[in-house]
Amino acid sequence: MTANRPRRAREGLKIDAVALPDPSWFRTLRRRISKWFNDSARDLPWRRTRDPYCIWVSEIMLQQTQVATVKPYFERFIAALPTISALAAADEQQVLRLWEGLGYYRRARQLHQAAKILVAKHDGCFPRQAEVVRGLPGIGRYTAGAILSIAFDAREPILEANTTRLWARLLAYRGSSTSAAGSRLLWAAALAVLPRRGSGKINQALMELGSMVCLPKDPRCNVCPAAMLCQARAMGLQAEIPATKPKRPTEPRREAAVIIHRRGRVLLIRQPEGKRWAGLWDFPRFEVRAQRPDELHRELIDNVARLTGMTVRLRGQRTTLRHGVTRFRITLQCFDADYIAGPVQRDGMATMRWLRPAALEAYPLSTTGRKLARLVASQFQTRNPR
Ligand code: ADE
Repeated sequence: MTANRPRRAREGLKIDAVALPDPSWFRTLRRRISKWFNDSARDLPWRRTRDPYCIWVSEIMLQQTQVATVKPYFERFIAALPTISALAAADEQQVLRLWEGLGYYRRARQLHQAAKILVAKHDGCFPRQAEVVRGLPGIGRYTAGAILSIAFDAREPILEANTTRLWARLLAYRGSSTSAAGSRLLWAAALAVLPRRGSGKINQALMELGSMVCLPKDPRCNVCPAAMLCQARAMGLQAEIPATKPKRPTEPRREAAVIIHRRGRVLLIRQPEGKRWAGLWDFPRFEVRAQRPDELHRELIDNVARLTGMTVRLRGQRTTLRHGVTRFRITLQCFDADYIAGPVQRDGMATMRWLRPAALEAYPLSTTGRKLARLVASQFQTRNPR
């Protein structure tokens, strides 16, 4: 038994230890995907420019968001803030308002922070050195490689979700892509495929192939320009590779939002640092647990007092909104209430503002906050027509 162990370990290693193909395999791959990209690339707004700023903005937006969603946001963002200096000079409120609805707002705040650094230390120019770019807030190895290769044609590799899956299949790599060995192998392949000139195009072709053809489920091998090079396909393993991780189950969660009214205005709170929607504004909002109506009433009053220091009188429930955030399926019960007493602004508490409903349009809100704000504003308009 013990004597067998080393042999088993070696066999196990062999399964996982995939060697890089030879240079001619990479040359063929490069030639085939490059031609395919010429014929099939989607016309995307960030593909019409080599401006590193525009490419940077697009890559940050694309980090956790689909291409179709990003398109209108990208165009609006660049129209409003067309240069690094314009972004650096904007206030965070404007940046977040332009980002509103894209989610993962930390991306917008880090982009803004990085633009300020570029103005302060690099004359507002986007640097060409990979180490400098990777040191900027919100930019990791992938994003740096994407910007530098696409904008400056630097020979910098990229690896994100779509290209990780593509490489795992091309190389028939069954191990974990996040393990040290897996990451080393996949990054090495991502570099080996790059030519001396034309890396930007190859990187974009890889991403396009990963997102349009080498789909997570039912990859379209019949139209894939790399099918004849694909080792997973040769072994009939394209459905098994990459192994999918079991998804963390979603959790139901109840929350409440309270629209507090005072003299024709409503109260908004700016979400503090470290919170889910840091920097955004919202109606006072919190988790609720009570089941019985009298308990819920108490819980709402107590939570408003805790968050704002104010006493309010509840009017009643306005609506229920349902939405998902990370793994939570949130049911948000929305209430109206009248301000009764208490400090209107208090030190050490989140920043609060009383706003006319029409003024809410200028404030960056969470998606549910925006829905509520629009409900409140339309009601005020019909009640107080000009
Ligand atoms: N996903 C990440 N970057 C991308 C890009 N430049 N084009 C299309 N999809 C992408």
